[in-house]
Amino acid sequence: MGARFLLPVIALIAALGAVGATYDRDVQPILQRACVACHSPGQVGPMSLTTYESTRPWAPRIKAVVTRKTMPPGVAERHYGLFGDDGALHQHDIDLIVQWVDAGAPEK
Ligand code: HEC
Repeated sequence: MGARFLLPVIALIAALGAVGATYDRDVQPILQRACVACHSPGQVGPMSLTTYESTRPWAPRIKAVVTRKTMPPGVAERHYGLFGDDGALHQHDIDLIVQWVDAGAPEK
């Protein structure tokens, strides 16, 4: 293998290393879009998912509910009329949350 082949391989490995999901970059925007309407102080959700500190202890439960698709609620049934498509998590969002939790739920 010459450099022609090696360089792209090295670049790919470097890129993969940088991909680890973080709260600030990846998870917070998802929670903002899909969760905080209920999970913020005074709303129906039992805990607040508005800050890293309040979200971090819930990381394992969050992974469980998004992979089982029990949160956000109503998405499976779509009877509620509460959410547009925006309420649903895309598979990409679920993957990011799983990566984040598996990496120890880092803030940055
Ligand atoms: C429509 C309001 C609403 C939205 C949107 C919502 N939740 Fe919830 N969530 C609730 C309510 C109400 C409960 C408590 C009752 C229950 O467990 O079903 C709850 C409970 C939970 C729990 C604890 C239950 C358990 O099984 O551990 C977790 C974790 C959770 N939500 C995560 C999320 C995440 C992550 C999102 C966004 C992807 C989200 N929720 C979006 C209303 C909501």
